Amino acid sequence: MPLEQATVHVEDRGFQFADGVYEAIRTYGGKPFALDEHLARLNRSLEGIKLTPPLSVAQWTEIVYEAIRRGGFAETVVYIQVTRGVAPRHRRFPKNAQPTVVMTVRECPPASDAPLEHTARIITVDDFRWSLCHLKTVALLASVLAYQQAKEAGADDAVFVEPDGTVMESTAGNLFVIKDGKVKTPPLGNKLLAGITREKFIEAARSLGIPCAEAPVTRNELFAADEVCLTSTTVELMPVIEIDGRPIGNGKAGPVTAAMFHQFHKLYAGV
Ligand code: PDD
Repeated sequence: MPLEQATVHVEDRGFQFADGVYEAIRTYGGKPFALDEHLARLNRSLEGIKLTPPLSVAQWTEIVYEAIRRGGFAETVVYIQVTRGVAPRHRRFPKNAQPTVVMTVRECPPASDAPLEHTARIITVDDFRWSLCHLKTVALLASVLAYQQAKEAGADDAVFVEPDGTVMESTAGNLFVIKDGKVKTPPLGNKLLAGITREKFIEAARSLGIPCAEAPVTRNELFAADEVCLTSTTVELMPVIEIDGRPIGNGKAGPVTAAMFHQFHKLYAGV
């Protein structure tokens, strides 16, 4: 149905409590990219908030393909949200509520012919999010506030830093640092999302023979890095050229970043 006709009840627990999880999936060549990985993560997120999956993987797969077909776009971003449903506002889990399932399809703009020319300035912020960042929940207020703080500081995004100086991820993407030809990305844990794109970029780097470690990254290592970049489904890869006002590299995507990007496209995006 048209977006304007789609409505959600005011007592939906997604609206009242951010009691829900989501996925964002893109297509390459019209086919959903890494759908099995996204649906596996959706099930991990659902399990993490103790919500029974409303659909099987086979059913999700069918409706994702159907939504892409009905959208009719050259390339699509599919957004899925599942909440604990509609019930009188109370913190206890409702007994008989049906999960609310929302799916939207939007056009995914074709990858730019000069993507590595788009770069980002970022800021570091204290990680004031909660402790279940590995679940893709809709509780994104901390991300919204950090992103706005970045914009107000004249930057494009923020990365979250723990009290001990360990860096986790940006508001909507995973982080990679490159030093002396070696790539490093923070290891999986409860303070960051296991990005599907992150996984594919690790594979892309390794397939080029570039060492890629999953190991802690400190704020100081960020400033000392030769190259820094962020990855996500919709953005793919964004080179970072400035952090907290300090330049990284020479203001352009670095050579390792570019090699990883081109390899990612060669392996997965059919370009
Ligand atoms: N966000 N970390 C966070 C906090 C994210 O929100 C996302 C993605 C990622 C990257 O995950 P993936 O590579 O699977 O897209 C990491 C999506 C794009 C969103 O919120 O729309």
